[in-house]
Amino acid sequence: MTARITVIGSINMDLVTTTERFPDKGETLLGSDFQTIPGGKGANQAVAAAKLGADVTMIGCVGDDPFGEPLIKNLEKNRIHTSNVEPVTGVPTGIAVITVAENDNTIIVVPGANDHVTPEVVRQSEEAIKDSDVLLLQFEIPMESVKEAVRLADKNDTKVVLNPAPARPVDLDLLEQVDYITPNEHELKILLDSEEKKSFYDQNREKFFVTQGSKGVLYYDGEKEVLVPGYDVDVVDTTGAGDTFNGGFSVALAEGKTLEEACCYGNVVGALSVSQFGAQTGMPQREEVMKFLEKRV
Ligand code: RIB
Ligand code: NA
Repeated sequence: MTARITVIGSINMDLVTTTERFPDKGETLLGSDFQTIPGGKGANQAVAAAKLGADVTMIGCVGDDPFGEPLIKNLEKNRIHTSNVEPVTGVPTGIAVITVAENDNTIIVVPGANDHVTPEVVRQSEEAIKDSDVLLLQFEIPMESVKEAVRLADKNDTKVVLNPAPARPVDLDLLEQVDYITPNEHELKILLDSEEKKSFYDQNREKFFVTQGSKGVLYYDGEKEVLVPGYDVDVVDTTGAGDTFNGGFSVALAEGKTLEEACCYGNVVGALSVSQFGAQTGMPQREEVMKFLEKRV
């Protein structure tokens, strides 16, 4: 059964500088490399899912600058449906300024056209939401659009995976309405910024899948906490590892796998993705995941 997934989210061009160490405030450093690479949490998650064999529709916006067209082409190259990706006139494409150093990274995102993914744009994609097993969302588009997407998914009985990244405060009813929430530990802290939300978390633990990098994913199975362990691999670039996890997790859920299997699958694809430079480079095809798992048993 082919998993059908709609992603509503950001499409960025990543401007990636590599240096030996991070610069201090006010310091100028000589870097060693610069590359422009397709990114954006939405597009990354869409590509991760498509590489794993899912039928993926992307909803998002690019600008009418030189970055827009190649980003749409990149999605198409990955067999992602893009008829709902709107180029916006007079607006720059979203970009992320990324510094890779010391086995880690820093990222500054400037949303540009991603801010034009309005509730109206979301409503135009109701058919795609309706025809999907899973709707996958992040926080790089306006919050009211995320809410509208969740409303439409609810109306059409489509499961929602919310990756609350980058960290933003949310209304409690958003947490109530989605099915699966995949924060890292920092994002979880920002989500639970009131007593009300903390007690919601305590009473709805089974919605939360807290990613902890190579340590794995923590979730609650109704009786106890379960840590689905991650994998230690040689790290080249962790950019987009979380996105890859979310793509894999959503594909597995859409295919009817158990929650534990979905976490495990997400962990494997996330681990494989960090072996290559760039967010989308290194995201594995389905066969690579199978091979990796065979080697481990
Ligand atoms: O999660 C990684 C992504 O975050 C990068 O590709 C960048 O575009 C930012 O959106
Ligand atoms: Na990578």
